[in-house]
Amino acid sequence: MSDSDALLARFDEVRAHTERLAAPLSPEDQTVQSMPDVSPTKWHRAHVTWFFETFLLAEADPGFTPFQDQYWFLFNSYYEGVGPRYQRAMRGAITRPGAHDVGLYRRHVDDRVTDLLARVDEGTLDKVRPVLELGFHHEQQHQELLLMDIKHVLSLNPLRPVYAGSPADPGVPDRLRWVSFEGGLVEIGHEGPGAGFSYDNELPRHASYVGPYRLADRLVTNGEWLAFLADGGYHRHELWLSDGWSRVQAEGWEAPLYWTRADDGSWLEHTLHGTHPVDPAAPVCHVSHYEADAYATWAGKRLPTEAEWEHAATVSGAVEPAVNALHPRAAGPATGGLRQMLGDCWEWTGSAYLPYPGFRPAEGAIGEYNGKFMSGQMVLRGGCALTPPGHTRATYRNFYPPGARWPVTGVRLADDAR
Ligand SMILES: [Fe+2]
Repeated sequence: MSDSDALLARFDEVRAHTERLAAPLSPEDQTVQSMPDVSPTKWHRAHVTWFFETFLLAEADPGFTPFQDQYWFLFNSYYEGVGPRYQRAMRGAITRPGAHDVGLYRRHVDDRVTDLLARVDEGTLDKVRPVLELGFHHEQQHQELLLMDIKHVLSLNPLRPVYAGSPADPGVPDRLRWVSFEGGLVEIGHEGPGAGFSYDNELPRHASYVGPYRLADRLVTNGEWLAFLADGGYHRHELWLSDGWSRVQAEGWEAPLYWTRADDGSWLEHTLHGTHPVDPAAPVCHVSHYEADAYATWAGKRLPTEAEWEHAATVSGAVEPAVNALHPRAAGPATGGLRQMLGDCWEWTGSAYLPYPGFRPAEGAIGEYNGKFMSGQMVLRGGCALTPPGHTRATYRNFYPPGARWPVTGVRLADDAR
């Protein structure tokens, strides 16, 4: 297979996966924006298409004309360098183009990318390859966002709709164990283009000192979270960071985002499989950094730093779960090593999202991808059950504001080694 054929095959696969994820959703489902952070499904489908149109076709195709003039304005997310854009919090007001017309836009751009790759010379291919690969990973990020956003949309419907599938059987609770690491001067960050794709925020690789530490061998479970609730976790100011305690008060947090009480007082959890009893053995998810931190304080532990997390994931050879699920599952039998490092819940770290020493964003508008968000957010590691297979890695740095609860976020405890 030639280089351009391989890129085209990858393009087709990524694009088709987005459409598969949207397939169970009606045009009405695809239009709703349930809160400012959530984007409608059809907006995600259009925006990732706009990304290829703007950063690939407009740059590489001398005869380029946009599919539709206004789409540049509607489907730009946050790229100031590209021009003005429609306000984020009002994306749900865009009833036109409808879901069907977004499909026509997608097919138009798919055809143009296919044409471009069919007739591209090697020099141009070398030029467009990094943008094309960034476009694949960008669309994969939006595949996860599409799912977490529709989960929020469906959570507001009292009919308790199911997106797809059914829940796993309840897991078997097991005791938390600790895995020790010597630490020292460790290398973190991605090794660069020769070692496969990375975002710019994973670069450059650099030395970081970590003291001897221990990580919990699995994520905090719902059962453990119930003990935190029962011990007044959400009502004890001394456990909380000041900003966290303010949010608890202001928003009336009593439990993770998607937990509701059944008539008999037990807890139910909204999932993409519908609403079901909370499984005590499954990882707690949809908790903010504030809740993760308060839980760790209650447990007499702390959250890992991102350097500790990455070092541990690298030396222990963390792998993604074999089963691609829409909800994180119980850890399974103890292995003596770390479980649930990749692909279960994004794990809050105690590290602020900051540039690595020597970080340089790319030139031009594409440099806005990551760098400009390095203020007021915390790093999360490991990917979640909604992350497309193969998308995450040990060096991957996700980030959210500390109050965010709608991503699939969970908690792994850390401790200084004694
Ligand atoms: Fe985007």
